[in-house]
Amino acid sequence: MQTNKHKHKIIIIAGARPNFMKIAPLMHALKDHPTIEPILVHTGQHYDEKMSHSFFDQLDIPKPHINLGVGSGSHAVQTARIMERFEAVCFSEKPEMVMVVGDVNSTAACSLVAAKLNITVAHYEAGLRSRDREMPEEINRLVTDAITDLYITTSEDASENLFSEGVPNEKVHMLGNLMIDSLVSHLEQASAIDLDLIGLNGGHLDLDFGNSLTKYGVMTFHRPSNVDDKKVLSVLVDQWIKTSETIPLIFPIHPRTKQMLVKFELLERLECSANMHLTGPLSYLEFLKLVNNSSLVITDSGGIQEETTYLKIPCLTVRPSTERPITIWEGSNQLIRADEIFCRSVKSLEKSNFQDKVPALWEGKSAARIVSVLETHFSS
Ligand code: UD1
Repeated sequence: MQTNKHKHKIIIIAGARPNFMKIAPLMHALKDHPTIEPILVHTGQHYDEKMSHSFFDQLDIPKPHINLGVGSGSHAVQTARIMERFEAVCFSEKPEMVMVVGDVNSTAACSLVAAKLNITVAHYEAGLRSRDREMPEEINRLVTDAITDLYITTSEDASENLFSEGVPNEKVHMLGNLMIDSLVSHLEQASAIDLDLIGLNGGHLDLDFGNSLTKYGVMTFHRPSNVDDKKVLSVLVDQWIKTSETIPLIFPIHPRTKQMLVKFELLERLECSANMHLTGPLSYLEFLKLVNNSSLVITDSGGIQEETTYLKIPCLTVRPSTERPITIWEGSNQLIRADEIFCRSVKSLEKSNFQDKVPALWEGKSAARIVSVLETHFSS
């Protein structure tokens, strides 16, 4: 039997909430692998029970080998802290490869450290481009893809973006969507859980899923461009309340958004709206069940555009652009302005007018394909 000494050591990075459902299937597929030894490093960018730990529990992700414990901070502070602490890990672990996923600060910080130490960088979810450099994530995507060695994309348009930026064909592998791997393998479990949501003030939310409240919408908002500006957030609050009078809305509030609603004195208006059901961040299974049974999703998230496409739930994305255009071309996603939320919600509820295809290779088997590309990489 081979010992760990002869295995190819690969560090897999997880930092923030949307990373966890991407690394989970990968960690499972690499469990007890005969030639590859995965080392899981959590940067600690997200650290709360509901933003981090519950995902590890529900997705059965092994406890990270190392937690850098960086916590929150400005972009420069957070990125610098991750780099400093991750460099020390690279020195001690001496990996052959560092795999980063998505587009969060942890993604860019760790790829930069690895590239400067001449460690091979693999980027899962490479090539996505919103063309909007006001999004911190777009900067992270550009920086990461500029120094990546092995590009793993989720759709052909992402591969095309890389080719047009001069990345050679042989470095790009379109292998489908790991988030959908997680979704497919947890949908049944999510459907079976009892939803008992706790409101922001600690009481149980009064939601009757079996009877009166059969139709509802789910909202998530956390993009700085939407929630950090008082004017924009005020328009959003007006639209959310107006929309909730047509369809009850369940709104799990991200910590950033809650801080801003409090700062701009807007939270009370939402709390006083009878059809607006506010809760804190939800666990993976709670959120999946909620979305799967909903009639409409209103969001500014990246990953939720993909999940709703798979589930064929109409999704209104309140952003000027998306790095995931395939969810519009083939899926259930539409881009809208903040002041259009009410009217576009009504239209979507009246008639679903989206393409209801599921993009190629979004079927739940991406992790196996990625492992096979890694095996080929290490054997060549
Ligand atoms: C980050 C990612 C974003 C991703 C989002 C998902 C970057 C640049 N942004 O944004 O791409 O879509 O995660 O949630 O990497 N906080 C907590 N508990 C936590 C984590 C954060 O209370 O566990 C609070 C802190 O006050 C923090 C704020 O939320 O300042 C924002 O967190 P941060 O990680 O800076 O950015 P996100 O908005 O979560």
